[in-house]
Amino acid sequence: MITAIFPAAGKGKRMGASFNKIFAGLSDKPILIHTLISFSRCNLVDNFVVVAAKEEVESISRVLNSMPGIKPCKVVAGGSERQYSVYNGLLAVPKETDIVLVHDAARPLITAKVIENVIDEVKSSGAAVAAVPVTSTIKVVDDNNVVTHTPKRETLWTIQTPQGFRKDILLEANEKARQENFLGTDDASIVENMGYSVKVVMGDYKNIKITSPEDLIFAEAVLGKKAVKKVK
Ligand code: CTP
Ligand code: MG
Repeated sequence: MITAIFPAAGKGKRMGASFNKIFAGLSDKPILIHTLISFSRCNLVDNFVVVAAKEEVESISRVLNSMPGIKPCKVVAGGSERQYSVYNGLLAVPKETDIVLVHDAARPLITAKVIENVIDEVKSSGAAVAAVPVTSTIKVVDDNNVVTHTPKRETLWTIQTPQGFRKDILLEANEKARQENFLGTDDASIVENMGYSVKVVMGDYKNIKITSPEDLIFAEAVLGKKAVKKVK
């Protein structure tokens, strides 16, 4: 059984709104609903766990239970950091689950193709993340704003979600991270911290995380399928 966990318990500070950004409207629906509908298009995923802020659990459960077009969904309370929210979600997955996918609720433009890429690789390697090759030059800079080095661009990938793992691996990684007080910036980093190899699979440049107001403009354009046109 494959279960997807959606961390949605953040504050959305960088969005600068007075509410959690996952409720921000995109076309006619909140971001969270877009994400769940997009993810439901992948037939390989069996059910969902949404991790919401404690005070939002009840209202989100009510909305999702009456929502057509999404997989069976449980809603649980999150924690103060994304990693703790994911852990709470992990404890709530059905016990028959053998593969867990973690996907930011704030990435509504996910496609079934990317989800399938991750699942295929998890089946053979145990741990895989969606990613895209970086398109800019990245430099490492010290505290005095001096460039210390320029890593070869071919070795650099921007990491997205979904990030997929065999459930036992992600559970063990979370337990080790908790013992060591290790806070990773993504789910894969705690698995890497355990010495486990994580594979990268092709994501999608459109699969952005909605972080700031300008990201909503991009997402609206993608949903509106604005094509590139030549003008004279
Ligand atoms: N998230 C979560 N629990 C937290 C923090 C974040 O479930 N304690 C979720 C967010 O709701 C989001 C995803 O993790 O769907 C990615 O995090 P991010 O984009 O950083 O969202 P926020 O933390 O809400 O935004 P900000 O950092 O700007 O406050
Ligand atoms: Mg955050």
